[in-house]
Amino acid sequence: MHAVEVKSLNKTYGKNVILDDIDLEMEAGGFTVLLGPSGCGKSTLLRLIAGLEDATAGGIFIGERDVTLEDPKNRDIAMVFQSYALFPHMTVAENIGFGMKINKKPKELIEKRVGEVADLLQISHLLDRTPAQLSGGQRQRVAIGRALMRNPKVFLFDEPLSNLDAKLRGEMRMELKKLHDNLNATILYVTHDQIEAMTLATKIVLLDRGEIQQIGTPNEVYNQPTNVFVAKFVGAPQINLLKGILEQAESGWQVNIGGTQIPLGDYQFTQVPKKGMEVLLGIRPEHITITSENSGFATELAVTAFEMTGSETLAEFSLQGQALRAKLEANIDIANGKNFNLHFNLQNISLFSAHDEFRI
Ligand SMILES: Nc1ncnc2c1ncn2[C@@H]1O[C@H](COP(=O)(O)OP(=O)(O)O)[C@@H](O)[C@H]1O
Ligand SMILES: [Mg+2]
Repeated sequence: MHAVEVKSLNKTYGKNVILDDIDLEMEAGGFTVLLGPSGCGKSTLLRLIAGLEDATAGGIFIGERDVTLEDPKNRDIAMVFQSYALFPHMTVAENIGFGMKINKKPKELIEKRVGEVADLLQISHLLDRTPAQLSGGQRQRVAIGRALMRNPKVFLFDEPLSNLDAKLRGEMRMELKKLHDNLNATILYVTHDQIEAMTLATKIVLLDRGEIQQIGTPNEVYNQPTNVFVAKFVGAPQINLLKGILEQAESGWQVNIGGTQIPLGDYQFTQVPKKGMEVLLGIRPEHITITSENSGFATELAVTAFEMTGSETLAEFSLQGQALRAKLEANIDIANGKNFNLHFNLQNISLFSAHDEFRI
């Protein structure tokens, strides 16, 4: 059974198509991350599922029930917004207990449940404060606490960490992951941050301009991107995309990059390859190394630029006039103009058509 199912969902504002035929299934207990650039339609999709917005066409099912025309309050969902949406004049305890209070639950029961949720989120010492007396991270916990008071079919999160500083964001990310593991909750989580998606998701749904680009595990999306957009959107520093021509040598298929021939080994084509086709060879910076392990191909190139981040060295080279970035070890002896023998690990390369930019 799917916890949530979205069928041929469309949303337009006037003439603008915001969501174009979205099909999506979420398993119970899964952590589905809706990832994509700003303005691609993530919040709109979440708001449609929550019932805060009406669909132009298509259906929404929560726990097998068709909720397309249902009020938000009848959809059995809990939503956490980027802006937290806490009541400023209420204490933390009152904010968390608000839903139960308006449902006229007994006071003792509310207190007990608020206590449990506060324990889980480690905010028991903050229950008497008002939101103004809390840090950003603490406010976020309260907003999550309010959602956890219920036991909904699905939790919807809209960029809940984007207002926090980098360090806190990293910590809250870990907390959310633990929370999901402990509660076995079904979560649909919206973010534009590919690191959040890679670390939290059991399934990533990549959206661009209102269309789904790929649905897959973080590993699938990272290593087998279906098109150039996906390849570039996940991974930092960005994947190298080298322009070349597909050739068939005696030893097998290869890509000719301005005279440098890179053998494709046992690359699994998703389409029948054609000689002479213009392609983009995608190789991630961490798959270019100066050690010969896993090497499928090596070439000597000179450093054109580099930066040291403390934990690694990002070096740029020029391969037949095309920039090539490599993620090298932190403490290497490096200088502009210095030559390195670069080994390409060809296990996780991707090939795309240079014309339609789809994986081949
Ligand atoms: N109420 C609205 N009226 C008109 N256009 C809207 C409305 N809400 C969102 N949009 C447009 O829909 C697109 C997607 O918005 P949104 O779902 O908020 O994107 P995201 O959350 O991915 O950043 C944007 O181009 C936005 O301007
Ligand atoms: Mg948004």
